This record gives sequence, structure tokens and C-alpha cells, in this order.
Amino acid sequence: MSNKVKVNLGKESYDILFSSDFALSIKNHAEKVKSDCLIITQKNIANLFQEQFKVLHNIDNVFFIYLEDGEKAKSIDSIMKICNYMSEKNFDRSSKIFAVGGGVVGDISGFAASIFMRGIDYYQYPTTLLAMIDSSVGGKTGINLDKGKNLVGRIYQPKEVLIDTIFLSTLPGRQFNAALAEAIKYGFIYDRDLFFLINNNIENILQNRSIELIKKIITNCCEIKSDIVSEDVNENELRMILNFGHTIGHALEAYQNYKELLHGEAIFYGMKCAISISHKKGSLNESEYNTSMEVLNRFNLPLIKIQDKEKLIALIKNDKKFREKEINFILLDEIGKAYISSDIKMNDIEESLSCI
Ligand SMILES: NC(=O)c1ccc[n+]([C@@H]2O[C@H](COP(=O)([O-])OP(=O)(O)OC[C@H]3O[C@@H](n4cnc5c(N)ncnc54)[C@H](O)[C@@H]3O)[C@@H](O)[C@H]2O)c1
Repeated sequence: MSNKVKVNLGKESYDILFSSDFALSIKNHAEKVKSDCLIITQKNIANLFQEQFKVLHNIDNVFFIYLEDGEKAKSIDSIMKICNYMSEKNFDRSSKIFAVGGGVVGDISGFAASIFMRGIDYYQYPTTLLAMIDSSVGGKTGINLDKGKNLVGRIYQPKEVLIDTIFLSTLPGRQFNAALAEAIKYGFIYDRDLFFLINNNIENILQNRSIELIKKIITNCCEIKSDIVSEDVNENELRMILNFGHTIGHALEAYQNYKELLHGEAIFYGMKCAISISHKKGSLNESEYNTSMEVLNRFNLPLIKIQDKEKLIALIKNDKKFREKEINFILLDEIGKAYISSDIKMNDIEESLSCI
């Protein structure tokens, strides 16, 4: 298994590396510049890993900012706080930002880096499984607006992504489980081997958190995301297949007011519906359908009740893919092969909701 995945984006190419010492990596990067550098993280992460962070507190040109926990941190206020802090301390164009956290920290840090002095370097140190396999790669940065998530942002690539699996030792089980939705999604849409790697080792992954297996899964996911992003940085057709399970998943999150379900849990349900439609449309055969549903049913998901089906359907219709005239829905031909269908009717979607 390679210890490095390259994201090929011409001048903006970067490496995703594995290391067992994230703090040393930050120290080395900071020591290469005279300018001031900023670590952006959250208090609970700094507390959990205070031993590792210690070495960074005595470096003259390294400063810390702690963000609030949760989606509310993805606000323009956080961006202003970071940018004002850097400008008051006279950070300059050679300054660096180190994002040590999950998707929230990564998205905000990347956005702040993209606009401060019209763009400074930033490095991703993902601390959640979701950030390791998804959000730290691809350069999507941004914040939320009152009307919805990630409505303001930029595509701005990090200089490097460094994955230290020590962070997984403290990650709550529910978050770990939910993040695997993204991993298995990559298996469904793109990589049959990855799907069966997860399918054949579920207990070892979920209960034992076998680090060897998890590293393999993270590497596979990063390779896939890197392939997709490299070919399609502006999110055209290829990148669209990453939305497998997301049309219904997003609507479910909104239906629950973003309170009860984690994003990954909603995507698990969304994938079940998309698989059911793929089967009904005849593209996914019986045996592949059964295998797909069986594996999804082995993830521990909170039970949800849809009491107001009309409301959920209205939310699905509100999805931007539906607002355009043609409905583009991601379906499976087989495990490992997705396609974009424009032949889906609202009836198909309504029927598939029985999988929830
Ligand atoms: N940029 C992208 O391409 C992309 C892709 C997917 C998701 N996202 C964004 O990512 C965000 C979700 O990311 P997330 O799931 O990582 O959530 P998160 O960043 O909110 O982290 C979840 C919680 O886990 C805590 N935490 C982080 N690391 C920990 C650790 N090692 N041990 C214990 N607790 C830890 C955090 O403090 C937080 O309370 C959303 O805002 C979503 O929009 C972005």
C-alpha cells in the first residue's frame, strides 16, 4: 500500500501523505518560513491531543485560533475573526494556515486561506474519518448562509494533505460509522474492489477499527477522489456521480432540520433509495441489488419515521438538480459503475422512499 497519493492538478498538484506525527509535519512546514503561521483547530481536538500539540506551543512564528464546534462555525464571522487576527499580527503572503480538524475546520480554513491577501498556502490535517476520505481532498472550501449549507465558497487547493490516523482513536462511533457512507459510496460508484473490501470486513472495520484496513480504505478513497477531481476540477459530469445518494439524502437532512441525522447517515438512506430505483429500472440485477442492500443494512443507522411525506417530497423537488428542467439522478449499472439518468420520474422517487 502506497504511503502517498498524488492529486494531479498541474501547478496546483499536491500530495496526500500518511504520517504518524502530524505535529512534526506542522513544525517542519512552519520552520521553512520567516512569516507567521496559524493553526486553526477546535478546543476539544486540542484537548484530546494536547501531548502532540505541546511541541507547537513553543514555536515563535506559530499561533492558534480555536473555532466553535459544529455547523454554526461555518460563518462569515469565523472568516472575519481569522482574517482580522492574521492582519493584526501582520501575517503576509508567505504565511501559512494549518487546518487541524474535521470538515468544518477544513472548509473554513481553506476559505480564509483563499481570500487572505488574495490567497496564502494552507495545509489540511484531517482529524475525522470523513475529512480523511472526503472533505480534505478536492479543494472545496466555504461557509453556510441562513438559506443553506456551503452557499458561499471557493475551490482552492491545499498545498498538502497529511493523514495521521492517531486522530481516529478518539472519534465517536457514530461519526466513524456515518463517514463510512462516503467510503462505500466510492465503492458503489467507482470501485468494485473497494466495495467488497468493505463488504467482506465490516466487523473488523466497525468493531475492531483495524488500522491496516482503515488505512487501505482511506488510501483507496483518496485515490478515487483524486482521480475524479484531477479530471474534473470544475464539477462537471464525472464529479456529478459523487452525488450518488445525495438527492434524497440532502432532503432527509433538511427534513430533520439538520438535527437528528448526521450527513453520512442521511446518505446511507439516500443510497438505499437510489439502489432501489436502479433495480426497479432494470439496470441493477437482482443479485447485485441484494448484495448492496445487505451491506447497507449492516450499518447501524438511527431509525427515522417520515410522518410528513409531502414535506419530504417538496424538499426533494427543491434540490437544485430538480429545479433545472431535466432531472439528473445518479443510478447504478452494477456495483462499481454509476451513471447519470435523466429518465427518473417523481413516482420512482416516491416509491423508493419505502426503503427508509
Ligand atoms: N469540502 C468538501 O469537499 C466537503 C465534503 C464533505 C463534507 N464537507 C463538510 O464537512 C463538514 C462535516 O465534517 P465532519 O463530519 O468532519 O464534522 P466536524 O468537522 O463538525 O467534526 C465533527 C465533530 O467531531 C469532533 N472531532 C474532530 N476530530 C475529532 C477526533 N479526532 N476525535 C474526537 N472528536 C473529533 C469535532 O470537534 C466535531 O465536534 C460539513 O460542514 C460538510 O459540509 C466538506
